[in-house]
Amino acid sequence: MGRYDDVYNGWMADPEAFWAEAAKAIDWYKPYDQVFDDSNAPFNKWFPGGELNTCYNCLDRHVEGGRADQLAIVYDSPMTGQVQKFTYREMRDLVAKFAGALKAQGVEKGDRVIIYMPMIPETAVAMLACARIGAPHSVVFGGFAPNELATRIDDARPKLIVTATCGLEPGRVIEYMPLIHKAIDLSKHKPDGVIVHPRAEVPDWERRDIDVLWADAEAGVEPAECVPVKSTDPLYVLYTSGTTGQPKGVVRDNGGHAVALAWTMKNLYDIDPGQTWWAASDVGWVVGHSYIVYAPLMHGATSILFEGKPVGTPDPGTFWRVIADHDVEVMFTAPTAFRAIKQQDPDGTFIPKYDLSKFRILFLAGERADPATIQWAEEQLKVPVIDHWWQTETGWPMAINPMGIEPLPVKYGSPTRAVPGYDIRILDDNVQEVPRGQMGAISVKLPLPPGTLPTLWNAEDRFKQAYLADYPGYYKTGDAGYMDEDGYLYIMSRTDDVINVAGHRLSTGAMEEVLAQHPDVAECAVFGIADDLKGQLPLGLVVLKAGVAREAKEIENECVQMVRQQIGAVAAFRLVTAVQRLPKTRSGKVLRRTMQQIADGEDFKTPATIDDPAIIDEIKVSLGNLGYPKG
Ligand code: COA
Ligand code: AMP
Repeated sequence: MGRYDDVYNGWMADPEAFWAEAAKAIDWYKPYDQVFDDSNAPFNKWFPGGELNTCYNCLDRHVEGGRADQLAIVYDSPMTGQVQKFTYREMRDLVAKFAGALKAQGVEKGDRVIIYMPMIPETAVAMLACARIGAPHSVVFGGFAPNELATRIDDARPKLIVTATCGLEPGRVIEYMPLIHKAIDLSKHKPDGVIVHPRAEVPDWERRDIDVLWADAEAGVEPAECVPVKSTDPLYVLYTSGTTGQPKGVVRDNGGHAVALAWTMKNLYDIDPGQTWWAASDVGWVVGHSYIVYAPLMHGATSILFEGKPVGTPDPGTFWRVIADHDVEVMFTAPTAFRAIKQQDPDGTFIPKYDLSKFRILFLAGERADPATIQWAEEQLKVPVIDHWWQTETGWPMAINPMGIEPLPVKYGSPTRAVPGYDIRILDDNVQEVPRGQMGAISVKLPLPPGTLPTLWNAEDRFKQAYLADYPGYYKTGDAGYMDEDGYLYIMSRTDDVINVAGHRLSTGAMEEVLAQHPDVAECAVFGIADDLKGQLPLGLVVLKAGVAREAKEIENECVQMVRQQIGAVAAFRLVTAVQRLPKTRSGKVLRRTMQQIADGEDFKTPATIDDPAIIDEIKVSLGNLGYPKG
């Protein structure tokens, strides 16, 4: 048995001792009374009785402990041509100042703050400032439309919103203030104020009374000290897509989160304090929360905050330039980014232009990593390329090749084995484990480890229903797949309406809700189809109301615009066609999976329960008109 087995079995034999040991990496104001308390299961508590501050653990203690002049954050933006470097001392001072500003604006411990910002240093400052004063933040990805932002405002009921005047996408400036104002107009809950960081690209905007300039908010205020919070107090709420248009507010606590994240940096990602780490994602997603901001700083590493794309900003060599310029040792991104680079530079001609000698490991997650992309990256970069698997709900990896514990043999198509903390089982519908090699629902035997969601914001019943009800005694991941004889996991698909478009988690159910609002649409179905670049793309079929005489093309274009306006460009919803009727079972269930199989050119069996088998041929023709299956 190797070291991985020793560590995993050690955790399994005594989880509380394992996490108590990991908790030593965190500075506590008040020691916890207990490692784990399940007396109110399923609402379990990690490290109850303990008090800490996540911002203190990310910044102040490093300043006090000898890392004051080490770089904490390096902002590199090919969008603006800027590079800005911040030491731990500088970050602490910026964060303390902005925390003071939040307090002066009336934000108190427990109040929520929504952060709608692009990939700039002020975003990390705002997140850490909230953590500093115990105000849970809720970061909303900048690609979401006002409607989505409004839904989150109504659920989180923030005291304040923190924003910037714009985000930058290749070739266009996205003005945020009209989006923010529109979201506030749409929402029932009205925040007290909006703190605005003006960017050079959009120095001014049409102001409203609630808008406060960042600098004005900071003027004359005292820097704020870290306040002790309970282990179990929420650090943040991050909304993620579920089955419906109402997103789930994943809650993250302070204590368990700090302990788990700090543990992962060396053990899973093989990063030591002082080394440079880059997660090329967005702070609007969980990867950005955990691995751009909290984990690397908790661990005393240097974290790159990158505002750009893998290609086109300006070319497919950008990633290599950033790695070389900042001595990045380990990087984490989504497979789609590498598919984009491979598409534009298949022979890797941009790679030799840069000195990548310090670069050691590439981690990929967020969607299925196809073996061809992994192998291409390995050949080009000559470093281990590690697929790993997790989700917003868990906040940190569930399956990985644990490079800091022991590199395990690679099996392409598998994110390797379960991470200590997770007892992963593959179940059938009767909650029985299936034999190795057989597909089933990927589940985690309860309890979940520290750092994973203790509940959903404002939705305890939904938490139980969505994750715990179907497989009593287990957490339902929503993924289907299998485990082989060696304990390697294979993640094959989702079991719900979630799709992954360019590593962005989206709900087809939410898109259907938008299409159903079109006055000429009687019913609709949206499902994910395979895409060479983005992994998956949404495809919609709409049935028009009887008597609608308008051109179908016109209605289809309106459907595309509606999804763009109500969910956001990030949904990449462009494929939609009108059909006479949808294939359904006799009980009325729409056969989305069958339609996806047709579009992807997979072998499929017409379900025996289908209402009218002739519809399948109609659907084939409609999908064929859209160009599917390809080739
Ligand atoms: N704000 C506003 N709009 C945004 C946005 C943001 N933060 N992020 C994306 N968009 C828009 C894009 O401009 C694009 O709009 P368009 O339809 O008008 O062109 C649309 O949303 C889709 O964007 P994107 O998914 O980025 O696709 P792309 O075609 O521009 O680029 C990739 C493709 C592969 C280069 C890109 O998806 C990528 O870098 N992916 C990595 C994803 C990632 O890091 N995921 C995090 C999980 S780890
Ligand atoms: P998110 O919550 O946005 O991180 O998305 C989580 C979902 O993305 C998971 O439930 C999976 O469906 C998918 N996913 C993440 N990582 C992987 C991976 N390595 N392989 C396959 N699917 C993945």
